[in-house]
Amino acid sequence: MTQEPYISVILPAGGSGQRYHPSQPKLLAPIHGKPVIYHTVAAFYNHPAISEIIIPCTNDLKNQLDAVLHAFCSKYHCVPSGRSRALSVASGYHNRNPRSHYVLIHDAARPNVSANLITRVIAALHTHKAVIPGIPVTDTLKNVANGWITHTVDRSTLVAVQTPQGFHADCLATAYATVLHLDNYTDEASLVEACGTAGKIIAGEPTNIKLTVDSDRHFLEYVWGHSNVHPDSSQSHDGTW
Ligand code: C5P
Repeated sequence: MTQEPYISVILPAGGSGQRYHPSQPKLLAPIHGKPVIYHTVAAFYNHPAISEIIIPCTNDLKNQLDAVLHAFCSKYHCVPSGRSRALSVASGYHNRNPRSHYVLIHDAARPNVSANLITRVIAALHTHKAVIPGIPVTDTLKNVANGWITHTVDRSTLVAVQTPQGFHADCLATAYATVLHLDNYTDEASLVEACGTAGKIIAGEPTNIKLTVDSDRHFLEYVWGHSNVHPDSSQSHDGTW
C-alpha cells in the first residue's frame, strides 16, 4: 500500500456496567481527575495513525460523552449501540467511513491502552488480516462443577486476549455477511474465526485491564501514580507464541 491506510477505531460503550456500580456509569467515573472514557478516547486521538473514532452508545450516554469529549476531540462520532457488545460493534462498523481499510476495536472500558500497543497492532495488520493482543495465563485453571474441581486445565496453550483487536475491513465485512447470531460472540476475534480467519496473537500488556469492578479503577490510579510501572511492551511477554 503506497498511501497511509485509513484506520477506523470502534470503542463499544453501550454496556450497562451493572457489575461496576449501579448508580454511576463506569465510563464516567474519574481516574486522575478525568472520566474513564476521556482517557480511552485520548489514547487513540493522540495516535497519529488513527483517522476516525466511532463510539456505539445509548442516547442517554451520548449527551454525557459529548460534554466530556467535544472540547478536546474532533475525530469522534457516536452511533446507536445494540443489545450486546457484538451488535454495538456491528453498528459502529456499518457507520464507519467506507474508505476505512483497517478497523481497530477496543473496549471503551480499557483506558490504559498504550500508544506502543496501538502501533504494534497496526504494524501487524500490514501482514495479517486479524491481529489480537494476548497475555499468557499465569494462574492455574480448574474446571468446576457444583463447587468441586473436576479437572485441571492445561494452561500452556492458553492466552487471555485483550483489545485493541485489529482487522482488515473486508474480513469483518465477510463475517457480518455470514454470521447469523452475533449475540453469541464476546469478541470479534471469535467472530472472524467462525468464518475461517485465524487471528495472529501479539503481546498484550498486563496493565491494559478492562474496568469491571470499582477496585480496577483504584488499581489504575495506583499504576498511573507510579510511572515506573506504566505499561511498557519491553516488560511484557516477548510476543513469541
Ligand atoms: O460487558 P463487557 O465487559 O464484555 O463489555 C465490554 C465493552 O462492550 C464495554 O466497553 C461495554 O460498554 C461494551 N458494550 C456495548 N454494548 C453492549 C454491551 C457492552 O458496547 N450492549
